[in-house]
Amino acid sequence: MLDKLVEKGIRVSVDAEELLAKTGDESVYERLLSLGKLFISRADVEGVLSEKNPDAEAAEFRPPSAFRPQAKEYGADLKIMHNLDVTGKSRTRGELDNFVNYFRNRFERLSRLLRQSHSNVPTVTLEDAKKHVGDRVRVLVMITEKRETKKGNTLFEVEDLTGTFKVVFSQTGGREKLMDKSRGIILDDVVALTGKILEPYMIAEEVDWPDTPVVKEKKLAERDVAVAYLSDLHFGSNNFMKEHLDLFVKWLCGEGETKELAGKVKYVIIAGDIVDGIGIYPNQERELVVKDVYKQYGMFDDFVSNLPDYVEIIVGPGNHDAVRRGDPMPAIGDDCIKSDVTKIGSPSMASIEGMKHLVYHGTSIDSMIASIPGMSYMHPEKVAVEFLKRRHLSPVYGGNLIIPEDIDYMVVEEPPDVVHCGHIHKNGYAQYRSTLVINSGTFQSRTEYQIKQGHVPTPALVPVYELKTGKLRTLDFRS
Ligand SMILES: [Fe+2]
Ligand SMILES: [Fe+2]
Repeated sequence: MLDKLVEKGIRVSVDAEELLAKTGDESVYERLLSLGKLFISRADVEGVLSEKNPDAEAAEFRPPSAFRPQAKEYGADLKIMHNLDVTGKSRTRGELDNFVNYFRNRFERLSRLLRQSHSNVPTVTLEDAKKHVGDRVRVLVMITEKRETKKGNTLFEVEDLTGTFKVVFSQTGGREKLMDKSRGIILDDVVALTGKILEPYMIAEEVDWPDTPVVKEKKLAERDVAVAYLSDLHFGSNNFMKEHLDLFVKWLCGEGETKELAGKVKYVIIAGDIVDGIGIYPNQERELVVKDVYKQYGMFDDFVSNLPDYVEIIVGPGNHDAVRRGDPMPAIGDDCIKSDVTKIGSPSMASIEGMKHLVYHGTSIDSMIASIPGMSYMHPEKVAVEFLKRRHLSPVYGGNLIIPEDIDYMVVEEPPDVVHCGHIHKNGYAQYRSTLVINSGTFQSRTEYQIKQGHVPTPALVPVYELKTGKLRTLDFRS
């Protein structure tokens, strides 16, 4: 009888299917059909079985009597900055001109940011630098090559739109601090280099990244509402932690000691890897409890149906989701997620209560850890600080797959109030200048792959940020 629903293009969540299998009452299917829904959740089946109308029940969400969620009193203040989201705007054909346009766009926008910072020495193009032999100048360049010389110095090949140059970071003359800084320069970085021109070289004296501005006070919201940050749920995986995610749902619905905080949560942002996906890595099917990606998303829809209806759910994709593999990623399709949630690309910028939230899954975190000394899987927040310093979410081209759009969506044009990443399944937080950095964890227990790699995830810990007071707390759903 389940076929009746499927034939009509109606999807049934795994939970709902299990419940339906237990009932032999055929009228249940007729009543489910009469709901006119494209997605049937467990709550729908329970509603029909108990002769209640689940729609009416959802419309007047009745929390436990002692729970008075103040977020229910407010309408949502949420705006997606669509110009910073690739969804529906991918134009690339992967041809040479797309690559040229991509790098030109990245260079022009980042060098414009660098130009805004003050310098005592004149800023010149590389073509003009040759006319300044013996002078100190500043150039705005992209790094194209980096190598150690026999004498232990570091030689960089750099370019701008007018030409190329060689820049030497010399370790002589007590420049250990500068050499230290030079180790943080990575390929394709766009930086300002200050130094003396001794053709054919520039002898570097300083390096600056675009960086975010220093501000005295961080921005806060007027209304007393909160955001819960999730990522890496991995529905469908053997290691998906359903019981623990259910505890989060119960908490949000007012069960537990911190119900006052739960009642402030007006927004839940989920930064990708909603499902475990199919064929993401060799032999993945052995680690899947649900091997149909649509059913995996059906489980997610079921999860959403159990959240209070006054909470805005914002969902971005990750490398396990059913979108293209390379960054920037478009939003997950309506054929996968049928719930009424706000779907965004990765990266995306969302203004929530006037506070700019940059949401990026974090696929490039791996290449950042491999490229920058001092970065590690233990501290994802340090990587996000490097994103902000560089005003770019994936500086090393080729370290992870980047699709060369004519606009580089990975440039962080506007300094955000909050950066939210995921991907490496580890919680981490930092306050960097005006930006709060949040790396949310996961609801997937440690996988075989993570054991082999020595990665230790932090599952079932959910950061919640109160936008009016600036208080960040981590809620523990491990037991
Ligand atoms: Fe993940
Ligand atoms: Fe991921």
